[in-house]
Amino acid sequence: MRKNIVAGNWKMNKNLQEGVAFAKELEKALAGKTLKCDVVIGTPFIHLASVASAIDTNKIGVSAQNCADKVSGAYTGEVSAAMVASTGAKYVILGHSERRAYYGETDATLKEKVLLALENGLKPIFCIGEVLEERESGKQNEVVKSQIENALFNLSAEQFANIVLAYEPVWAIGTGKTATPAQAQEMHAFIRETLAAKFGKEAADNTTILYGGSANASNAKELFSNPDVDGGLIGGASLDVEKFLPIIEAF
Ligand code: PGA
Repeated sequence: MRKNIVAGNWKMNKNLQEGVAFAKELEKALAGKTLKCDVVIGTPFIHLASVASAIDTNKIGVSAQNCADKVSGAYTGEVSAAMVASTGAKYVILGHSERRAYYGETDATLKEKVLLALENGLKPIFCIGEVLEERESGKQNEVVKSQIENALFNLSAEQFANIVLAYEPVWAIGTGKTATPAQAQEMHAFIRETLAAKFGKEAADNTTILYGGSANASNAKELFSNPDVDGGLIGGASLDVEKFLPIIEAF
């Protein structure tokens, strides 16, 4: 059966020393606890190697927040999936709405990034979600379905088994305006149906689908109690151990 995951996305926050200190503090806080979910932290690229060597990455998975859509070569400023994997990171967040909106990432480039991540043994945490306008005009299902189809439907069932999805309604990210548990459940169930139609019911049932967007210690329990919500991708509330820990313990 599918895993529950609580993943932090630090975005562009914390310097290297702060990042390493956070990772060690989180590891200490989790020591001896029996958790009902896997824990992942998504750090900036330059933190990956130091964070991965400061902690046991079998207990806390380390994730990049992006990777290049090219293998290697003359792409100044880019970081390849192979480089990410060589740090000890096991995951990579791909298709975050901030990357789509501010850095022009398209379904076509994301499709390449997903393939390269998988080839290098990384698990993509693939983000999908509609903007407010699309939600208000009732197009959320259509938008999310096309994001999935365009970047993931080329995968084999075997490749798809390594994908984690994160439904992040853009209007809920960093706004303090969380989707209601019912809205999250409705969309997650729709995503699972979409996956079942392509990859089969068993593959869909085995896929971890996270919710992201202003999730925090006070709403996590209610969000995670939905049958199709398998955890969270947490931004703001993942930056302090005392805010992140209760979300992990909400399971
Ligand atoms: P937030 O961000 O929790 O700060 O809304 C979530 C995300 O962007 O992954």
